[in-house]
Amino acid sequence: MNSLFDISGLRIDLDAHGDRLSPVGPVDLTLAKDECLGIVGESGSGKSLTLKALLGLLPDGLSMGAGQIRIEKGGDLVACQPERLRGHRVGLISQEPGAALDPLMRVGGLIAEVVQRHAGCSRTEAAARAVDLMRQVGIPDPERRARFWPHELSGGLKQRIVIAMALACDSDILLCDEPTTALDVTIQAQIIRLLRDLRDKRSLSLIFVTHDLALIHEIADRVAVMYAGLIVETGPTEAVFADPRHPYTRALLAAIPDMDSPDADLQPIAGAPPAATEFGEGCRFAPRCRMSSAACVAGQPELEPTGAGTQVACVNWRRSEKDAP
Ligand SMILES: Nc1ncnc2c1ncn2[C@@H]1O[C@H](COP(=O)(O)OP(=O)(O)OP(=O)(O)O)[C@@H](O)[C@H]1O
Ligand SMILES: [Mg+2]
Repeated sequence: MNSLFDISGLRIDLDAHGDRLSPVGPVDLTLAKDECLGIVGESGSGKSLTLKALLGLLPDGLSMGAGQIRIEKGGDLVACQPERLRGHRVGLISQEPGAALDPLMRVGGLIAEVVQRHAGCSRTEAAARAVDLMRQVGIPDPERRARFWPHELSGGLKQRIVIAMALACDSDILLCDEPTTALDVTIQAQIIRLLRDLRDKRSLSLIFVTHDLALIHEIADRVAVMYAGLIVETGPTEAVFADPRHPYTRALLAAIPDMDSPDADLQPIAGAPPAATEFGEGCRFAPRCRMSSAACVAGQPELEPTGAGTQVACVNWRRSEKDAP
């Protein structure tokens, strides 16, 4: 696989009154050109912090304690500082588009400002390019809507403006953090279709974070399942969905409502993920795991190849659920 973006050994540290806690990591991720990598996991698993670290946007008190980020340049992967990627090669689409838009600027002006900063062109050229970008992201009547204030647009149109701003920087990688969670299902489907179209037309590569496994199945070529700050299973989406090996991935899949048998009982995962203060030496999923055995508390298992194109971090991955003690 030709990597476009590569993260190795990423660890995010939190300074807790002099003690070091690491809510995320070590995490390795790689993204190929034109690929969509899905990251899925329960709330608090570290999905957003991972994306923020990649852009140097970690909140106060948190820092990148270890790891290297490399990006493709002239055919090679070169180390880079996260801050330098932001607004250049890498754009961020977040859950709440309103937060990314300055309420005191008209939306056309917001996009034009990015164009001008990036391309160094005149204001008139930037304004024309902003309208063109609004058209590309499917905003109807873009000449008129360019004069709208952010609050005059619906959530779906706001998210399209944020996507246009990322395209204005000529970003070739989009980090999407639950970009459709705040939108209703029809608008959600439209935004997903737009991201897919852009990926095909503009050769964009995506990292797509969500807790919606059905969405991952629809959009992602590869998936990384995160639990308590670590990737516990990863591989081509079809392979992971067809034959999940980590008990956590199996449990997540079992918790999806089945539209073919609406009366079937949902199987929620008992218990809650641990906070960083509760991480122990052993597998972080062990306390909730039906398969857990003495070996699970000895140490955190590393990702290992299953032979089916996927990797899994579980000492019991060869056992099936039927063998659960
Ligand atoms: N500003 C912060 N200070 C301290 N800890 C934080 C901070 N932000 C996040 N964390 C902790 O880091 C962990 C990962 O948080 P993160 O926001 O990345 O989760 P997430 O997977 O994106 O969850 P969600 O699906 O709810 O968005 C959580 O346990 C959270 O409590
Ligand atoms: Mg999040």
